[in-house]
Amino acid sequence: MHLVEPPLIPAGSIARRVREMGASLSACYADRRMPIVLLAVLRGSVVFAADLMRAMAVPTAIDFIRAKSYAGTRSTGRVEITQFPEVPLKGRDVLVVDDILDTGRTTAAILDFVREQNPASAALCTLLDKPARRAVSIQADFSGFSIEDRFVVGYGLDYEERYRGLPSIYELSGEEG
Ligand code: IMP
Ligand code: MG
Repeated sequence: MHLVEPPLIPAGSIARRVREMGASLSACYADRRMPIVLLAVLRGSVVFAADLMRAMAVPTAIDFIRAKSYAGTRSTGRVEITQFPEVPLKGRDVLVVDDILDTGRTTAAILDFVREQNPASAALCTLLDKPARRAVSIQADFSGFSIEDRFVVGYGLDYEERYRGLPSIYELSGEEG
């Protein structure tokens, strides 16, 4: 396994895009009564969420949610939420912050959970989107970059818990070397 140089998305491009997303989100969520709840999906989205909240000009709160998907033998993987947010979501504007929208199964289950809490609004913001991999019908309301079907790491994304701290996003090649 090795990182493919140059990075697919260099740190500077990520920073620029995160600033743009922060500006769009600030415009969309202007004049809300209470801070927007950024619900960051553990663990991959923590780096993005930390930067995004500093790029938003409106008040935000942050909480976390975690889900586990079981690949299983059937094509329809079961998703279980393993860590729940502590902030009550009822009546709040909730923005789910995810690292990457892949098959969409995990994120769809998380959005279902959020909507069951009767929030004032629920929206999805993802840094990366791999539309070619989608297995369920789900779209991001805010998306940073659309990428091809490649396995990527860095800026919070991992392969077996490695590479999360890289400032840029790299393709991880499957070949040995
Ligand atoms: P899905 O959308 O339910 O298939 O799962 C998305 C999750 O799988 C993401 O939140 C990541 O944790 C992980 N994932 C999917 N694609 C990648 C990738 O290219 N690199 C690292 N993690 C990935
Ligand atoms: Mg994830």
